[in-house]
Amino acid sequence: MSRKKLIAGNWKMNKNSAEAVALVAELVAVAGKQTDVEVVVCPPFTALEGVAAKLEGAEIRLGAQNMHPEKSGAYTGEISAEMLRALHATHVILGHSERRTYFGETDAFINKKTLAALKAELRPILCVGETLAEREGNQTLKVVQTQIEAGLDGVTKEQAAQLVIAYEPVWAIGTGKVATTAQAQEVHAFIRGLLVRLFGESVAGKIRILYGGSMKPSNAPELLAQPDIDGGLIGGASLEARSFLELITAAAAAK
Ligand code: 13P
Repeated sequence: MSRKKLIAGNWKMNKNSAEAVALVAELVAVAGKQTDVEVVVCPPFTALEGVAAKLEGAEIRLGAQNMHPEKSGAYTGEISAEMLRALHATHVILGHSERRTYFGETDAFINKKTLAALKAELRPILCVGETLAEREGNQTLKVVQTQIEAGLDGVTKEQAAQLVIAYEPVWAIGTGKVATTAQAQEVHAFIRGLLVRLFGESVAGKIRILYGGSMKPSNAPELLAQPDIDGGLIGGASLEARSFLELITAAAAAK
């Protein structure tokens, strides 16, 4: 089953709107017309509108980093799927480990967001991954299984093909410590097996499973060559045009 590789940039809390527009302009100039790889950029909320305008007509998609499950209402500080859709966002990162750790997001809350995103026709990029203590305690697969099963509870087979999963070992995020290709492929294959059980072989074969955690141009080719690694969710290396463009090139070469 061949899946188009996906390279997504999670800019986290970096770049004001002017800086974000400048970065995306560089990306559009070089990679705005390429179609070998699906490319998504996820700027902070404040830059979504400006970045959306720059992306008009380009083959680069827009994603948000979070959303609230309700459509509207008294949720101070929150943003809904409908608001993101109105800005032409197509993707949304959900359940990032930083949201789980610093903002107390539970699997149940992330599940509500996943269902709301799918209903609004936004593609969730659902993040899962273990901490260092969990890996050292041989809990990796169990943790990932719980996060996947709880996060995707109630998702139908028809909706599932829209999903993107990101495996991000927490100990590899922003640390420079990348998972070995064998460690990453093992978990990706395990996730694929869970998806087969949940949604059947054909749908599971269409779902992209991204690796995230210190991915950069030097380590990307080997990771992207693994059978179940369908792309990357990139933090640090997405903040500069040069390294992000190199990652797109690496993904195109690995297809
Ligand atoms: P780094 O690429 O900076 O390790 O971040 C990964 C990540 O958290 C992407 O969501």
